[in-house]
Amino acid sequence: MESIIFSGTAHPEFARKVSEHSNIPLGRTEINRFKDGEIWVKFVDNVRLKHVFLIQPTFPPAENLLELLIMIDAAKRASAWKITVVIPYYGYARQDRKDEPRVAITARLIADMLESAGASRVLTMDLHVSQIQGFFNIPVDHIYYSMILADKIRDIGITDLVVVSPDVGGVKMARAYSKKLKADLAIIDKRRPDKNKVDIMNIIGNIEGKNVILVDDIIDTGGTVVKAAEALKKNGAKNIFAACSHPLFSADAVEKLRDSVIEKIFVSDTIPLGDKIARSGNKIEVTTTTKLFANAVKNIATGESVSSLFTEDDK
Ligand code: R5P
Repeated sequence: MESIIFSGTAHPEFARKVSEHSNIPLGRTEINRFKDGEIWVKFVDNVRLKHVFLIQPTFPPAENLLELLIMIDAAKRASAWKITVVIPYYGYARQDRKDEPRVAITARLIADMLESAGASRVLTMDLHVSQIQGFFNIPVDHIYYSMILADKIRDIGITDLVVVSPDVGGVKMARAYSKKLKADLAIIDKRRPDKNKVDIMNIIGNIEGKNVILVDDIIDTGGTVVKAAEALKKNGAKNIFAACSHPLFSADAVEKLRDSVIEKIFVSDTIPLGDKIARSGNKIEVTTTTKLFANAVKNIATGESVSSLFTEDDK
């Protein structure tokens, strides 16, 4: 069955590269707004009986998600054979459980919305927690930034390296990096007295006199990673690096990172950064995931396994 890629407006450059690397054509769309802001979508190219790949990360504003939902609906009503939504960054993933009374499980709500709109498969990377896959009743292919970033860090050749998770929730991801880099693992016991507020309680593991790399799925305000870096420095760490899969960099995160004790922040390109790299004094370094996504898209299109692209150590 023929395949075609379409991009939403959130990150067209990402979709263009995935199309280029996968050799699957990038279809034309018309995405416009009514005067009041309502979104209007039309596929210019025919999608009838095609495998349609819709690429859109769902970082805020919520319009990015809404646009994706409308694209799914348009593809479904135009008789697409299958609709695979490629969500490099799955927004709202942090709201994955009822951790206090009277709150929503928004990560589940979004999954329901994508499915009801007509998505038949999801491809995403580094979900905040991998259990979110179970919020869907359609197949979810989950890939990992560690599949490429660990090689890059190894190539830099940082000696005496310890991988640090800035909170207990991130241990699984940090363990993957520590296995791949054959480095020790340390964990920070972080508490959140309130949303976007961070308290560092303890460092579990030996970081004294070591170079460290903090790994996290998301950097949002930068509070977690900057406070963690300060605590590590205070406790005798040498050079401190950071890595994150999804650089949201909201509020004054970039300035906070620029002025922090962190030497370099390695991030993926699931979210466009605009002038943030320059504003960080070039502390931020991007490693593209578009080849990785292109390989996964190709395998999905040809019915091959996606898990064959990674090893147990990547997870
Ligand atoms: C939390 O569980 C996540 O893994 C990140 O540590 C968190 O979202 C980062 O947020 P911020 O940069 O605002 O501290």
